[in-house]
Amino acid sequence: MEEIILTGIKPTGKIHIGNYFGAVKPAIDLAKQQNAKAMFFIADYHALNYLKDKNKFSEYTFDLAATWLACGLDESNLFFYRQSDIPEIFEINWILSNVTPKGLMNRAHAYKSLAEENIKNGKEVDDGINMGLFNYPILMAADILSMKAKFVPVGEDQKQHVEITREIARIFNNLYGETFILPEEKINKNVGLVLGLDGRKMSKSYNNTIELFCSEEELRKKINKIVTDSSNPNDPKNTDCLIFKIFSLFANDNQRKEMEKRFKEGISWGDVKKITFQTANDYIKPMREKYMFYKNNPNKVEEILRKGCEEARNIAKIILNKVRQNIGKYNF
Ligand code: TRP
Repeated sequence: MEEIILTGIKPTGKIHIGNYFGAVKPAIDLAKQQNAKAMFFIADYHALNYLKDKNKFSEYTFDLAATWLACGLDESNLFFYRQSDIPEIFEINWILSNVTPKGLMNRAHAYKSLAEENIKNGKEVDDGINMGLFNYPILMAADILSMKAKFVPVGEDQKQHVEITREIARIFNNLYGETFILPEEKINKNVGLVLGLDGRKMSKSYNNTIELFCSEEELRKKINKIVTDSSNPNDPKNTDCLIFKIFSLFANDNQRKEMEKRFKEGISWGDVKKITFQTANDYIKPMREKYMFYKNNPNKVEEILRKGCEEARNIAKIILNKVRQNIGKYNF
C-alpha cells in the first residue's frame, strides 16, 4: 500500500516570502520528490476559532487555494481539497473526542499558553477561549487519521499536535481494536528562517514582510526599504548582510556567484537593490501571472478542489466505515 503524506494549511491571510520559502516551497518540493501519495488540504474550519468575519473567511480560503496552485502545486499529482467539504472528518472528530482525555487537551501548547497568560493578567483562566480552540488538536487528529496518513510535514510549532494525534489513535486502537495508522511528524526546519525587512524574523506581526504576490512597484519599494550599512559604493562589502540573504532566496548559483564577486569588488547599495528587485521579480513573475489567472477564474479553483474532495472522500469513507463498525454502530 502506498504511504500517505498529508498536511493542512490554515487560511490566515496573504502569503509573504517568508511563508513561501519557509513552508510553501518545501512542501511542494516534498510532494514532487517522494513516491508516496501526497494530500494537501485547506484547513478552513481550523481558522474558525479566531476568524469570525465571513468575508475574510471566504477571501482568505480562496486566496490560499489560488496561491498554492500558483506556486506550483500540481493537483494531478496529489489530492488538494478543502477540509469543510469532507463530512467524514467531522464525524470522526466527534467519535475521537469521546476517547480523548480532557487532560491531554489542557496540556496542548496553544490552549495552555493562553490560559497561563489569562492567569498572569489576573483574568479568569478560560477568558476569551472558545471550544474550537480547546478542541483544535482533536480536529487535527481527525484530519490526519481519517486519511490514514503516515507522514505529516509540519513546522516545529505543530509537532505536539501530531504527538497528540498518535496518542488519540493509540487510545482508540486499544479500546476498539486496530483502526488507525499512527502518524509521524516530519519537521520542516525552514519555517520562520527568512528574515524580514528590519532583520528580525519575517512575520506579519512585525510588519516587516514582503507579500509574495504584491505588485512589481510594491516589490521594488519594499526591497528599497531593506536596511543596509553606510559604506561607500566602491567599498568591498560583506555578503553576511540582510540584502544578500534576501537576494540569495531568489538567485540561482550563477547569479549568486556574480553578486559575490561584485560585493568583493565594491558595488553601490542602490545597484544591489536594483539587481535584487530584478532577480526577485523574474522569479515571482510567472507565479504572479498564474495567481492572477486563478483570481480571475475562481471556477477553475473550485473545479480542482471538487475533484480533490471526491478523491479524499473515497479514502475517508473507508476509514469512517471501519470506525463505525469497530465502535459497534448498528445499522438495522
Ligand atoms: N494546525 C496546522 C497549522 O496551524 C494546520 C493543520 C490542520 C494541519 N490540520 C492539519 C497540519 C493536519 C497538518 C496535518 O498550521
